[in-house]
Amino acid sequence: MTELDEPLDLPDGSEALAVKSDGQIDSSHEDLRVAVLTGLARRPRSIPCRFFYDAVGAELFEQITRLEEYYPTRTETALLETYGADIAESVGLPRVLVEFGSGSSRKTSLLIDALGEVPAYIPIDISAESLQSAAAWLSARHVGLPILPLIADFTKTCTLPKIAERHARLGYFSGSTIGNLTHEEAKIFLASAARLLGKGSAFLIGVDLKKDLSILLPAYDDGAGVTAAFNLNLLERINRELDGDFELKRFAHEAIYNDRAGRIEIYIVSLANQVVHVDGHAFAFAKGERIHTENSHKYTVAEFQALAHSGGWSPAKVWVDPANLFSLHLLRL
Ligand code: AVJ
Repeated sequence: MTELDEPLDLPDGSEALAVKSDGQIDSSHEDLRVAVLTGLARRPRSIPCRFFYDAVGAELFEQITRLEEYYPTRTETALLETYGADIAESVGLPRVLVEFGSGSSRKTSLLIDALGEVPAYIPIDISAESLQSAAAWLSARHVGLPILPLIADFTKTCTLPKIAERHARLGYFSGSTIGNLTHEEAKIFLASAARLLGKGSAFLIGVDLKKDLSILLPAYDDGAGVTAAFNLNLLERINRELDGDFELKRFAHEAIYNDRAGRIEIYIVSLANQVVHVDGHAFAFAKGERIHTENSHKYTVAEFQALAHSGGWSPAKVWVDPANLFSLHLLRL
């Protein structure tokens, strides 16, 4: 057992590494271990939001998308249904569809229906399992559509399969996932997407809008407690996968709006003074102390257009629902 919150020297390789059945080291387990131990040791404490999505977390997120309070998913879906023909016309010639992240099959399916002719669909994701299930779902609904999943971290360099060179490209980044990135990270992401998709490309991005807090806050703190369960599942995941001993009753979900930064911030708050152990390391929490688990940035249409521009893209068109909840931006390169 190490001292409370002693400086961590990671990765140290001396810990037992998770070894998969094929004898390979499980890099995703090591990724989680390093991120959690360093994230709990730093101040303010934080754990990256990508770790929400184990099997339980992915299912809880599905439930979130169906909540009355959580407007983004149904509003983006309605935009695709209402303006599909207009979107297709603005996108123009048949384009290979390149999706960043593969967790939005229903919306992707609507987009493919609207576009009509799609020479190939290339979902890019770091998770082979999510790519597998997304590809299976879509291939059943779009018979004959070539699907070429790409296991890659699209924030790092990757290259598209050959077929993408024979057609123009359309990128799709749905669900306001771009809101998880800071403005600087989003600019870098947009610039790398520009490099990947290449000249003459188009990019369709779903972006959540700034709005009244009476709508925004309940979307991240729903009455049924699904978002709380989604956030706290991170502690259960640490208990399951990193031999943690978090007591779930002694922590709470918190969602606030940071007006200056223009974002929802999600935290896990300690309800007591307590010591928690993870992978043999001890961490002391004071009552009220928080772990930051997610940012969800919100943009006005003009703010996002300026960001797109800084990433090398020209804003071409934007679709917004009548209640001004959500935006779908079409960018060109
Ligand atoms: C998947 C990142 C778009 O920010 O709205 C929902 C994640 N977190 N409720 C969002 C989320 C809590 C969601 N994104």
